[in-house]
Amino acid sequence: MWVLGIETSCDETAAAVVADGRTVAANVVSSQVPIHAKYGGVVPELASRNHLLAILPCVGEALQQAGLTLAEVDGLAVTQGPGLVGCLLVGVQTAKALAFAHGKPVVGVNHIEGHITAIRLRGREGAVEPPEFPYVALAASGGHTSLYLVAALGDYRILGWTLDDAAGEAFDKLAKLLGLPYPGGVSVERLARQGDPSAVRLPKPMTRRDRIRFSFSGLKTAARNVVATWPTPYPEPLVADLCAAFQEAVVELLVRKTLAAAEAESCPRIVLSGGVAANGRLRAAFAEACAERGLTLFLTPVGYCTDNAAMIAGIGHHYLLQGRGEGFEELDAYGNVGPLAGRGRGLI
Ligand code: KG4
Ligand code: ZN
Repeated sequence: MWVLGIETSCDETAAAVVADGRTVAANVVSSQVPIHAKYGGVVPELASRNHLLAILPCVGEALQQAGLTLAEVDGLAVTQGPGLVGCLLVGVQTAKALAFAHGKPVVGVNHIEGHITAIRLRGREGAVEPPEFPYVALAASGGHTSLYLVAALGDYRILGWTLDDAAGEAFDKLAKLLGLPYPGGVSVERLARQGDPSAVRLPKPMTRRDRIRFSFSGLKTAARNVVATWPTPYPEPLVADLCAAFQEAVVELLVRKTLAAAEAESCPRIVLSGGVAANGRLRAAFAEACAERGLTLFLTPVGYCTDNAAMIAGIGHHYLLQGRGEGFEELDAYGNVGPLAGRGRGLI
């Protein structure tokens, strides 16, 4: 069964073709980074306008790479939410129009559900033997930092979430504060390699062991206070040290709470997903901590961590098999996840 996936929830216009819910035949991502870089973050209206320009070429390219025509595709899956609503609308309307014109079913998919099940994908970006169910999944992106118990495809229980910012957003804000290029996580990771994390003292948030919650706003404020004491232009060694310390603090919190969640659920399998899971230091720290505790770690290949449409096609396949793609006329976009909560059971 061939599924065409479409993803436009933020600043990547993406289309992919996935066979059997796992094997990625094409994975096209058109990045808008150069458009938003000068603003230090995503400008929603610019993003939706550029999705409009890029979406059909992306779909065409994905089909061409897969060697298929739309007539040969069995169904479509599209990110329905959460995300920037103007951006989501471009993907949803495109998917509905293509499905209508070609007489195909189309299913709306939750973006976070795509992230936490992307570990099942295998393709040019990499392949991991997927975990058995249940597993504990960390979804750490620009909009989310949440932990889920994944009991089966479509069956999730939320274990923890952030009280304020998302981890990726915290990296992006630090980068903006330091005048580093967008997207921030990549810039902070690059500079952190040259820094000494112990050179700056940052607070250790959420120390209560029994509370599976994240918080990043205190870290952000602490970083701002450190920068306020610096001369301008900011000396490079200080910038590198602060990036290293900040990254270490974020990684330490993500590791600590994820392991606590796995322990509370007596679940020995951990999956890392979302854009922040592309971070090399995060991957190394998790590998070390999981090895120490006898837990098995599943690292989503980096190309399937950041936003992509293969993860949407992958989970969409599961719902299309259940016949959920028929009668799609009502399919709509949702900027926040409320109306979608019943979709992937237990997802928020
Ligand atoms: O999953 P994603 O591509 O989009 C959302 O769903 O938000 O995640 C994007 C986020 C951005 O905040 C970006 O700064 C962060 O992931 N990110 C990273 C790295 N690569 C991307 N954060 C830390 N280290 C990285 N290498
Ligand atoms: Zn995402």
